[in-house]
Amino acid sequence: MRRTTEPDPAALWWQGAVFYQVYVRSFADSDGDGVGDLEGIRSRLGYLELLGVDALWLTPFFRSPMADHGYDVADPRAVDPLFGDLAAFDRLVADAHAHGIKVTVDVVPNHSSDQHPWFQEALAAPPGSRERARYFFRDGRGPDGAQPPNNWTSVFGGPAWTRARDGQWYLHLFTPRQPDLNWDNSEVRADLVGTLRFWLDRGVDGFRIDVAHGMAKPAGLPDMPAYLIGITGAQAHPAEDPRFDNEDVHEVHRLIRKVADEYPGSMAVGEIWVESDERFARYVRPDELHLGFNFNLVAADFDADAVRRAIDHSLTAAGQSPPTWTLSNHDVSRHVTRYGGGDLGVRRARAMALVQLALPGVAYLYNGEELGLPDVALPDWALQDPLWERSGHTDRGRDGARVPLPWEGSEPPFAFTEGDKTWLPMPPEWAGLTVEAQLEDPDSMLSLYRQALELRKTHAAFSGGELEWYGAPPGCFAFRRKGGGLICALNTSGAPVPLPPGEILLSSAPVSDTELPPETSVWLV
Ligand code: GLC
Repeated sequence: MRRTTEPDPAALWWQGAVFYQVYVRSFADSDGDGVGDLEGIRSRLGYLELLGVDALWLTPFFRSPMADHGYDVADPRAVDPLFGDLAAFDRLVADAHAHGIKVTVDVVPNHSSDQHPWFQEALAAPPGSRERARYFFRDGRGPDGAQPPNNWTSVFGGPAWTRARDGQWYLHLFTPRQPDLNWDNSEVRADLVGTLRFWLDRGVDGFRIDVAHGMAKPAGLPDMPAYLIGITGAQAHPAEDPRFDNEDVHEVHRLIRKVADEYPGSMAVGEIWVESDERFARYVRPDELHLGFNFNLVAADFDADAVRRAIDHSLTAAGQSPPTWTLSNHDVSRHVTRYGGGDLGVRRARAMALVQLALPGVAYLYNGEELGLPDVALPDWALQDPLWERSGHTDRGRDGARVPLPWEGSEPPFAFTEGDKTWLPMPPEWAGLTVEAQLEDPDSMLSLYRQALELRKTHAAFSGGELEWYGAPPGCFAFRRKGGGLICALNTSGAPVPLPPGEILLSSAPVSDTELPPETSVWLV
């Protein structure tokens, strides 16, 4: 399908869409091995339709030795047997479309797996070879080359360089099993184009670009400032970090956009961890990515001023592209836990769900947040995230936010799997949080999401891309969607405040006609 005319409005489906991130390992398991898979997702499409989401983002299900749970890709155009096969993928796409749900997939251009044939060839080839030129192989420093080529550290802890048998070093911004690809290399670029076309030809509706601020590296690979050394985990990178956000990365995004433009209705969203709004905006220029993930809401505490600042920054950073809103994903602590956990965390999470879903633009939900799942405090023996080992057991990593979803029943594995084990242990306390337990309960988190998504989709008050702020008491804010007129008010202060005038559409907790209680938000028209 090549574009011949101007895009029709249906091609812009993503502009106000609600995406649902399926962390494939943890959503639903169809074959009893305790790890989620593509057939598992397909079996739960009815649930996703009922929830009311427009599109899925599937985390990597490609052939991988799973050193970083699939973000180490050995073949980007094959399904890992753990998750199914291409036929299962085709069935999933066809059925999702039949349910009115779009499908987007993750691509990981910054690095490959060490088991990728290219990297195996590079290890076997001599320094200076064409095989090594697809990655970053360099001689070390010091008289015998025993020091890494520069001082860069890995995002997962430890040096960003590992020494190959013949003495050269190779670069990996993540684990040593995720060597960074060299984006100056034409074969690397051509391969990504091939991967994008491969999935588009199979019917996918778009992509999430992993580490979209990575790829390009500065000439000469200069040292990083000392204060950044050893910082681990997902966070925004400042301009002076030479590992990320280099100018040439925009060539990669123009390449991705060109391919997407050949398939009307397809889109790409980038994972962009950069500090400044101005730098962020460059990724979503008209000839680059359609959307960028900003993580301002993830970084904001439950505090009206902080949330308002996060919203304003996100709107500025998005430039002409629709802003995106994320409260949680598979790399960060779940927001129920970030907001204090327990009943307080849930109450605040409910309030923030209505803030997120009132905002103009695109919302990304992370599987399980519609159930109000908290992080799980996993025992040491259960931890699998490479961050835990790489950080020398100082950073417990991201497993706590990746525990499989509870579907039905009163004890683990809550129908996540028919087997008796799950890849991360599920807590018995989740009995009250299953889909089954929440579906018919009008006060549940799941019911709140269903009502909010339904209103967002059908009510005219949600139209229009601009918002204006109202004056509000300390610890509170209120904004209005300029087009449709929806008002969203949030109270993060410790006391009730007067409710703004209007008819109540939905509230995160019971409200009277006159007062907005603490830790509560409301939608009014
Ligand atoms: C991204 C992914 C994360 C992964 C990393 C390396 O940040 O979201 O899960 O570990 O890239 O690919």
